[in-house]
Amino acid sequence: MNVKKRTEKRKSERMSGFGFRSMNVTFKAVDFLFPYIDKRVTRFGIREGMTIVDYGCGPGRYTTRFSRLVGEAGKVYAIDTHELAIEAVKKKIEKCGLRNVEPLLASGYDSTVPDHAADVVCAIDMFFVIKRPTEFLGELRRITKKDGLLVIDDGHQPREATKEKILDSGFWIISEETRDHLKCRPS
Ligand SMILES: C[S@@+](CC[C@H](N)C(=O)[O-])C[C@H]1O[C@@H](n2cnc3c(N)ncnc32)[C@H](O)[C@@H]1O
Repeated sequence: MNVKKRTEKRKSERMSGFGFRSMNVTFKAVDFLFPYIDKRVTRFGIREGMTIVDYGCGPGRYTTRFSRLVGEAGKVYAIDTHELAIEAVKKKIEKCGLRNVEPLLASGYDSTVPDHAADVVCAIDMFFVIKRPTEFLGELRRITKKDGLLVIDDGHQPREATKEKILDSGFWIISEETRDHLKCRPS
């Protein structure tokens, strides 16, 4: 089956409330049993003072780490199309006093992040649900600085599908590939 058909087979990008809550419980169990995120984010090229976009932030597992890495002089936009994700991130902001995090509820592929704001955009475990990848990748490029970076992973799709979508879009060139993620630069 080609990439287009595989992508179209998924019914919707949007999870039900039950789906989101179940995912959150699963994440909590996974993070407890396999605490890998702190180590993983050290390979994303994030430094103090940077502006990061956590695109498809979900309950904010990565957002909190990005917040810590960029520090007070930096900023993190936490973007999601699901209200429950934004609610969860807002709770984390309050609980942990994260003053450098701005949660934004996106509509479709409009993140509302200003043009060329981000040093690093991270799209972790979410690209595989995107039904119109070229449109989506265009929005990611719009919000990324000209010398910025996109860190993206496969989630539940083969590497071949991730790469084909990125290259077909014409918006990004792949600059580094590891088992864990791809790093891309604006083309
Ligand atoms: C599997 S979760 C991963 C969450 C987080 N990145 C993590 O790894 O913990 C995927 C998230 O992407 C969000 N999402 C799906 N389509 C989106 C879109 N077009 N724009 C922004 N977020 C989206 C979903 O609502 C969900 O919260």
